[in-house]
Amino acid sequence: MIQKPRGTRDFLPDEMEARRSVEAKMREAARRFGYREVCTPAFEDLELFTLRSGEGITKEMYVFEDKGGRSLALRPEITAAVIRMYINEAKVAPKPLRWCYFADCFRYERPQKGRYRQFWQFGAELIGADSARADAEVIMLAAEALKATGVTWDLKVGHLGFMKNLLADLDPAAQHLVMAHLDKHDLDGLCITLADMGKDDIGGSLSALVDCRTLPEAFALAGTIPEKDRIEQMISILDEAGIRYTLNFGIARGLDYYTGMVFEGFAHNLGAENQILGGGAYRLAHLFGGDDVASAGFAIGFDRVMVSLGEVTPEKDTVVGIVCTDEGERFALSVARVFRSSGIRTEMDLMGRGLGAQLAHASKTADFAAVIGKREADAGQVTLKNLHSGEQKTLDPAAALAEVKAYGTR
Ligand code: HAM
Repeated sequence: MIQKPRGTRDFLPDEMEARRSVEAKMREAARRFGYREVCTPAFEDLELFTLRSGEGITKEMYVFEDKGGRSLALRPEITAAVIRMYINEAKVAPKPLRWCYFADCFRYERPQKGRYRQFWQFGAELIGADSARADAEVIMLAAEALKATGVTWDLKVGHLGFMKNLLADLDPAAQHLVMAHLDKHDLDGLCITLADMGKDDIGGSLSALVDCRTLPEAFALAGTIPEKDRIEQMISILDEAGIRYTLNFGIARGLDYYTGMVFEGFAHNLGAENQILGGGAYRLAHLFGGDDVASAGFAIGFDRVMVSLGEVTPEKDTVVGIVCTDEGERFALSVARVFRSSGIRTEMDLMGRGLGAQLAHASKTADFAAVIGKREADAGQVTLKNLHSGEQKTLDPAAALAEVKAYGTR
């Protein structure tokens, strides 16, 4: 028996309905903030991701050569693709662009609960706005989208400017190495790396920065950074909006494109894979042949949200099973058309079952049976049986439809 590939999942209808109901809440949050959905290809030129997405993510990519000899990769994330699309398709569109997406990503990681090789991200990118308000807007949208799902989580907000100030004397490669240790919370590795570089002195200030939770303390440790006013403004907008967060200047983010504000979210009830949100301000467009446009965005790990929520019971459709004899078939098909065109989920026997077997099947799969034998067909009526209460009435199709609709809104 062929099995699904490692790190992938099948979703049965109940699970898909649960997923769609949660997804709809996040989409609705994005709509209210003016973010419109975009879609990019599932695979891209490999170079799109090797240019700036960071070593961690490029090591985990599914890379392949197509029949034309092109090097391609399944997208490990959507941000780079969205910026490529902006340059290709929307460079001259009025700024800022507010775009969102819900799409699957592929990373060759060691699978475990909450970590998959195919997983879904709900994300947003704000392109062409370079301000405190822009930084705050993406954080507020992420918070709103997660709140709408019902998960309980903590938000951590930071800024790379502090760390960069402390590491200003190091060359970019060394800075990169240090940030990678910080991203993995690997303080021992960090000390060894700094000692190798003869920069032990920075170690103390860096670990103090990682532990620091207030802006004045961070400025005292790392020195005043050029973005001071912008950071303070952003924080005051978040405070004003009642967003709950802790400051964390140790957030380094695994992706290499971030330039300023960064933030992460952690679900309360998940184990090792509890990070459900990551984002920040970044610049990528110039690397892909566009202008150097400022952007900010985030992605929520949708599968982790679903794990955190546990059992989700979406609103159920009312289901009508049409139960008919051969003599009633023509009329039954017309009743099914009426029900379906009014939005009612209506199923009809396709197995050549007798009346009793059809009714038994309907009682397992439907809320109502609409029984149509010769007598009903001749009278243009339906015997509508509520399969939960057993109550039954013979009605004309319009009245039967009204009854089913009323049940759906009970
Ligand atoms: P990221 O932190 O790499 O950021 O991923 C965002 C979220 O995707 C993570 O917080 C996590 O919840 C989820 N995630 C990552 N890997 C897996 C996996 N293997 N299985 C399940 N969930 C996973 C980004 O991807 C950036 N593009 C975010 C961004 C958008 N920054 C600016 N704009």
